[in-house]
Amino acid sequence: MLHNNLGINEKGHLTLADIDTVELAEKYGTPLYLLDVDRVRANCRTYIEAMRKYFGGTSGPLLASKALSFKGIYRIAAEEGMRTDLVSPGELYTAAAAGFPLERAYFHGNNKTDADIELAIDSGVGYFIVDNLEELAKINGYAAEKKVRQRILLRLTPGIDPHTQEKISTGKVDSKFGSAIETGQAAEIVKAALDSENVILCGYHCHIGSQIFECTPFCDAADIMLAFSAQMRDRFGFEAETVNLGGGFGVRYVQGHPVIDYAENIRLIAEHIRARCAEFSLKMPEILMEPGRSIVADAGVTLYEVGSVKTITGYKSYVSVDGGMPDNPRYALYQSEYSALIANKANEAPNFVATIAGRCCESGDLIQEDVSLVRPERGDLLAVLVTGAYNYSMASNYNRLPRPPLVLLEKGEDRLGVRRETFEDLIALDL
Ligand code: LLP
Repeated sequence: MLHNNLGINEKGHLTLADIDTVELAEKYGTPLYLLDVDRVRANCRTYIEAMRKYFGGTSGPLLASKALSFKGIYRIAAEEGMRTDLVSPGELYTAAAAGFPLERAYFHGNNKTDADIELAIDSGVGYFIVDNLEELAKINGYAAEKKVRQRILLRLTPGIDPHTQEKISTGKVDSKFGSAIETGQAAEIVKAALDSENVILCGYHCHIGSQIFECTPFCDAADIMLAFSAQMRDRFGFEAETVNLGGGFGVRYVQGHPVIDYAENIRLIAEHIRARCAEFSLKMPEILMEPGRSIVADAGVTLYEVGSVKTITGYKSYVSVDGGMPDNPRYALYQSEYSALIANKANEAPNFVATIAGRCCESGDLIQEDVSLVRPERGDLLAVLVTGAYNYSMASNYNRLPRPPLVLLEKGEDRLGVRRETFEDLIALDL
């Protein structure tokens, strides 16, 4: 199996965290998101322990909320000692409602509104990751009004293209995010931050992209960030205490993807950063990372009931399921790869190639094309694997489909983390 939290039981059913997925579908209905909480916790610990061990000091990971945001995930993250990033007032509200300690939160976003800035300062968010000069001025002004000094990091674009998908790469100079080092705008915002009385500049942030399998792009980004830090020290006497390298480590969605040893990659990045710090005579800064996908993706499975199975003679076969792009828009958006199987026939050999289609009135509503499956029948259960990241968080109500519930699996027990949306929920805001 793709990940070791997946298995097949004596009934030939797919299991996640040793729990029978067919029984879960019977209990909660379909479509259904499952999340293996023990796996989420293990992934958090991998990052926390490796970052503490190899980077030292107070270095550690922030959960990237965008990958999965609901109250339960913030409780788990808080219990594990994670920090979190937040990119919207909605994520902030959810984290606060879950009791997440907001002094451990980092507020992101390339276009924080005045209202967002006020809310975040009023809520006691630990850090802002400041995108641009205008925003800096607003934060400084509001912090002065509230008589506080707000801690900040500056989001910089190091000009790295990690060669992943264009749409999910963000560290290039031509980007809507941050201030570019290459153009001199980064130095300008450092100067402005140092001159702003109601902010405390703690360091720098960058994020180069997503689904990155090697450590080289992170090392390249660190080189640029540390060289910049040394320059700013020489120019303004300011040395960064914190360098945040963003998120982006890849995840194995299909057999063809490599197995990544995150701890080993962190060790290699740390070795590289220490050498650079020595070269530039910099203190080893606190290093932060913002993993999203690599914390939650392999903890998730989505279950669907198979409906029509259609073969278009001379073309291809379609297996339609009772969900689709509203619960997983990633194939429609990015042609993302996924592994799928018939969960109630998990020990039978695939004998059929099909395109998995959703139920929306849209031909692009596909979950995956040309996958090998056991030939399914109406009523079978189709499982799509590794759906813990950017599925629930990107879900919509397109075609007025209610969003599926999210069931949490922990220590052999299952419980609802998010209940199923009802038709009443769908019209609740309609006047
Ligand atoms: N930090 C920042 C500033 C980010 O922009 C992102 C992702 C992350 C952390 C987390 O990256 P991760 O570790 O999850 O790769 N919706 C897309 C992904 C967009 C990611 C954008 N930023 C998808 O479904 O693949």
